[in-house]
Amino acid sequence: MEIKIADNLKTVECDVLIVNKFEGKSTSHELVNEYLPESYKGKAGEVFLLHTHKKCPSTYILTIGFGDENKLDNNIIRENISKAVKKCLELKAKSIAIDITSNQTNSIPAIIGAYIANYSFDKYKTKKDNKISEIYISQVSQEVVDISKTMAESMQFTRDLANEPAAYATPTKLAEIAKNIDGVTTVVYDENEIKELGMGAFLAVARGSKQPPKFIHMKYTPINPKKRIAIIGKGLCFDSGGLDIKPASSMLTMRDDMSGAACVLGVMKALSKLNPQVEVHGIIAACENMPGCDAYKPGDILTAKNGKTIEVDNTDAEGRLTLADALCYACTIGVDEVIDIATLTGACMVALGNAASGIMGNSDDLVKDIIKVGSYCGEKFWELPMWQEYRDNMNSDIADMKNTGTRYGGASAAGMFLKEFVTDDVKWAHLDVAGTAFLESPHKEFCKGATGVGVRTLLNYIMV
Ligand code: BES
Ligand code: MG
Ligand code: ZN
Repeated sequence: MEIKIADNLKTVECDVLIVNKFEGKSTSHELVNEYLPESYKGKAGEVFLLHTHKKCPSTYILTIGFGDENKLDNNIIRENISKAVKKCLELKAKSIAIDITSNQTNSIPAIIGAYIANYSFDKYKTKKDNKISEIYISQVSQEVVDISKTMAESMQFTRDLANEPAAYATPTKLAEIAKNIDGVTTVVYDENEIKELGMGAFLAVARGSKQPPKFIHMKYTPINPKKRIAIIGKGLCFDSGGLDIKPASSMLTMRDDMSGAACVLGVMKALSKLNPQVEVHGIIAACENMPGCDAYKPGDILTAKNGKTIEVDNTDAEGRLTLADALCYACTIGVDEVIDIATLTGACMVALGNAASGIMGNSDDLVKDIIKVGSYCGEKFWELPMWQEYRDNMNSDIADMKNTGTRYGGASAAGMFLKEFVTDDVKWAHLDVAGTAFLESPHKEFCKGATGVGVRTLLNYIMV
């Protein structure tokens, strides 16, 4: 999609001109003001479509309600522009103009909303979905357009990758993608090297699959970094559950179990374009969880990179095992902060649905900062407790811990498990995106499938 800056959107020839309306105010467009019916108030999300019959250069003008002007924020702009763009797609529009009597900062959520709405995963369809190819916008600098576009395209990249079937998005493929990202250096460790690194937990998970595991370490290095952070993405290219195999209905979407990894790749891809003053390490322990003949078994005892031993209670609690070794590794490379993002627990999905991701960590400041950045850019995080009770449930008679606790409080238990592999000198936050990474039905700006959750929050967090 191309974004073009125009001086006067009213004179642009395009399929649809989108204008916004606040309650109790008239719009910026005379023709709209003349024809808007009494009943149309401009409540948030309310649309009114006007055919211009050649009185204007655009074929249609679509008015979108923005509600109360005093309550305007990024979320209202993004969600409603997204709604308007979906309406344009229904009209089979190719070129649109967005006139939201904007200022520079309003343009970012508007552009991102347009990109989110214009997305569909149609790679494997012979008949492609209609897409908008041109957006005109005004009162905005090229720099702001470029930043918005980079973020939005990273989200698209992440959504594509998470939507891909597991047969395509294998650990080897993720490693290949990582190696080809501009502006970052990438090291990929293969199975033998992973063994040498002492990652006994990660390796055990990978053993049941024919696909070899890859441990991926990307690094973006600016000239004078203000700080150093590592972002770790859960990279389960497919999670069958392993020997504790999942029922068919739960397995159906488990190609999305690398959404964290896809997010990290999307973020790393954007860095050389955004040039933040932060050193960023992108880390992925990529493998599949399969019940092959060499699969790890309930009752096995694994030794993680930091020497701690884990009794396998359930082979479907595999993500925390791969993350355990990735966290140990991240704590050895000299970073100040580590953030992991993972489709980790069904329990988090049960608790928060698709409205918010769970967040936990060992640093109140880091957790609060991420929650704040997330709410600014449209991704909600809700803090879950990290109490000792959850850890106590994972005590083992034969090892340092088990990989699962009781049936209840599963998201917090997983968080407490991960904490065992983080050193105290590192600030750490864990994002559980099991409920938000992949939608079973359309929700707000998003269509069914992958959402690219985390990309906006992590990029904005790195940029501030
Ligand atoms: N990948 C799943 C978690 C998940 C569930 C992600 C639903 C997205 C949607 C994870 O590996 C898993 O299987 N977790 C188990 C843990 C349990 C065995 C303690 C779960 O949540 O059921
Ligand atoms: Mg699992
Ligand atoms: Zn999983």
